[in-house]
Amino acid sequence: MEYASTRELMRRADRASVVIPAFNIPYLPMVEPVVKAIQDTGSFGLIMAARLEWIKFRTGSLDALQAEYDKFKLHGHTRLHLDHIPVVDEDDQRVDYLEIIRRAIDVGYESVMVDGSRLPFAENIACTRAVVQLAHAAGIPAEAELGAVMGHEAGPLPPYEEIFSSGKGFTDPKEARQFVEETGVDWLSVAIGNIHGAISAAAKGQAKVAARLNIHHLDRINNAVGVPLVLHGGTGIQKADIMDSIKHGITKINVATAIRQPYERHIEQGDAAAQEAVYKTMLNVIKQELEVQGTARILNMNGGQ
Ligand code: 13P
Repeated sequence: MEYASTRELMRRADRASVVIPAFNIPYLPMVEPVVKAIQDTGSFGLIMAARLEWIKFRTGSLDALQAEYDKFKLHGHTRLHLDHIPVVDEDDQRVDYLEIIRRAIDVGYESVMVDGSRLPFAENIACTRAVVQLAHAAGIPAEAELGAVMGHEAGPLPPYEEIFSSGKGFTDPKEARQFVEETGVDWLSVAIGNIHGAISAAAKGQAKVAARLNIHHLDRINNAVGVPLVLHGGTGIQKADIMDSIKHGITKINVATAIRQPYERHIEQGDAAAQEAVYKTMLNVIKQELEVQGTARILNMNGGQ
């Protein structure tokens, strides 16, 4: 049987207003329960790691995740994605992003993300364009970010209400249109009130603030660009806002903190207990929080309708 590419699956999801969740793997033993929960609920999801997951957590390397994924992958339910490869990272260091992305493509990642969102607009365009060329030459889609999805940086965040009500750092719809046109990027990560779960040693175990989404602003971005939109910081967003965002262009939602914290809380009891905690949390995320149970059937049908 021929399986659809990630690009085609995202296209089908976009058309059917179905969301594809993407799960971050900061600890390799999480791959097994994450894939199992996706399979047991008949859903579809991406398995992914960002650079910070092998730098600040225990994924080891992008090769290590690929090898672990290879043991458990299910073509009808999962694909492998490379999350945030920053051009300038959360500690303000310059990264050889092209080298990392080239390596990921070589070892079999099926879509990639470059994050130039800490750069001035024109530089973000230039870096994203270079990655899009690399990805497209290999026949896979590329994601990029425009706007500031905060939370990964070491320092304290401004109060959430201040971020939300000022709209500071939100993706500008006009810039988004220009960005997509000039880069040819396939999927765009937007800032509309979403924030990443904190990863600093002091804050990574804490509960995330219940973020909200400015759906009116999302609508303006969605009307300005013609590509599927991505919501980062998927943990702990108000449920009604998540459901609304899916109707207004969000086609992929990234989830990290929600499944990382149960693993960390149970790891002292051993791998099996931590994996079980991840599995149970995954069932809740899939069935209750995102309501994506059963989406594999919709997405794998020819045309996705
Ligand atoms: P959360 O940690 O808030 O779920 O964010 C995940 C994310 O966006 C990774 O790219």
